Amino acid sequence: MTKPVEGFSKLSKEEKIDWIAKNYTDDPETTRALLKRYWHSDPKLQRLHDEFIENTLTNYYLPFGIAPNFLINRTLYAIPMAIEESSVVAAASRAAKFWLERGGFKTTVLGTEKIGQVHFMFHGDAARLETFFIQIKSKLISDAGPITKNMEKRGGGISNIELRDKTAALPHYYQLHCTFETLDAMGANFINSCLEQFAQTLEREARHFGPFVEAGENIEVVMSILSNYVPKCLVRAEVNCPVEKLDIGDAMAPEEFAQRVVRALAIAKVEPHRAVTHNKGIMNGIDAVVLATGNDFRAVEAGVHAYASREGTYTSLTHAELANGIFSFWIEVPLALGTVGGLTNLHPLVKLAMEILGKPTARELMQIAAVAGLAQNFAAVSSLVTTGIQEGHMKMHLLNILNQLGATPDEKKALTDHFKGNTATHSAVVDAFEHLRNRK
Ligand code: MEV
Repeated sequence: MTKPVEGFSKLSKEEKIDWIAKNYTDDPETTRALLKRYWHSDPKLQRLHDEFIENTLTNYYLPFGIAPNFLINRTLYAIPMAIEESSVVAAASRAAKFWLERGGFKTTVLGTEKIGQVHFMFHGDAARLETFFIQIKSKLISDAGPITKNMEKRGGGISNIELRDKTAALPHYYQLHCTFETLDAMGANFINSCLEQFAQTLEREARHFGPFVEAGENIEVVMSILSNYVPKCLVRAEVNCPVEKLDIGDAMAPEEFAQRVVRALAIAKVEPHRAVTHNKGIMNGIDAVVLATGNDFRAVEAGVHAYASREGTYTSLTHAELANGIFSFWIEVPLALGTVGGLTNLHPLVKLAMEILGKPTARELMQIAAVAGLAQNFAAVSSLVTTGIQEGHMKMHLLNILNQLGATPDEKKALTDHFKGNTATHSAVVDAFEHLRNRK
């Protein structure tokens, strides 16, 4: 068995590669060669990537694609997407084209409020704590002045600090529930720095607050951290058109198609098993934009799913309605995104993604990501209620299977043509491939 390693982070990159190759892989030479093959040829660029995290060995590629033809509030966007799933970019592009011909997407930012909390324990009189909080509130804000100065100059900063009594949920537990406006920054570092300063002020002032000293009471801060649940950092995106314009070819009449979509959404609203998959399809679009633009997809995922369960049952993030001859399809989703700071100024492909999007503000990026999610959901639900998902999915997956089988470019072309008219299940592709090889 491999022994634990001491001081791994201090080894050079070559030494780390040697260690992992020798101790965890069957063929160390091949492992070493593979890891190095994925290094960037420009050492400066490679160093940049090395320094994003600790213990970097190499780079992990994901496709970076473009879904064009997104008309959003009368501006035409080509949306960069970073994602491994074969059908996502194709589905987004299809939905973009479909709605381009029907007026495009309309979006509104409903709020940009970010949240952070100082969690603390207080064994004592709640009314005294309230008095103390009222006395120190302005001090909390002024002590954080050096951190908030620049953000305030640009129009952002701390919006509010509230004392919340959480003792009904957990004995002696209170919090400072703080809200922020972080403009074009996602704001994690800004918020966490403010919160840690609030915590220091809180503990220091409590030690000198006469009534606490007399009563032998004190505050013990447990932790200070932003919340990724941001229900008021919310964006809405929608499409609508007269139902007769919802023509999808011979498969189905527009009215029937609209009704099927509305029914599919009604199911996703009441059935959590379906809602999770339904929302996963939405996140195919949102995550791909979030990743391509260097944002934190884990934060977005956590916040979005919490929002989907805000009423106690997990439910659909999108909504559909057919009323007075108009079909409407919309999403409301919390998205805390940034277009400055973090990877956005560092990763060359992220910078390019921002350029392609016209150097958006964070508010604009929220709208673009929400549209990508809505488009993805429209494409998925449209397939599900008509042909089923596998037809399109397997067509896109075909190349992955052929690559796994080691097909040559000529074989790929022949088999892609063959499957234009045939269902591309995994076994059908393998059979057709073997048949083609044996024929040669
Ligand atoms: C697959 O990645 C996403 C779908 O399952 C979404 C859905 O079912 O709505 C197709």
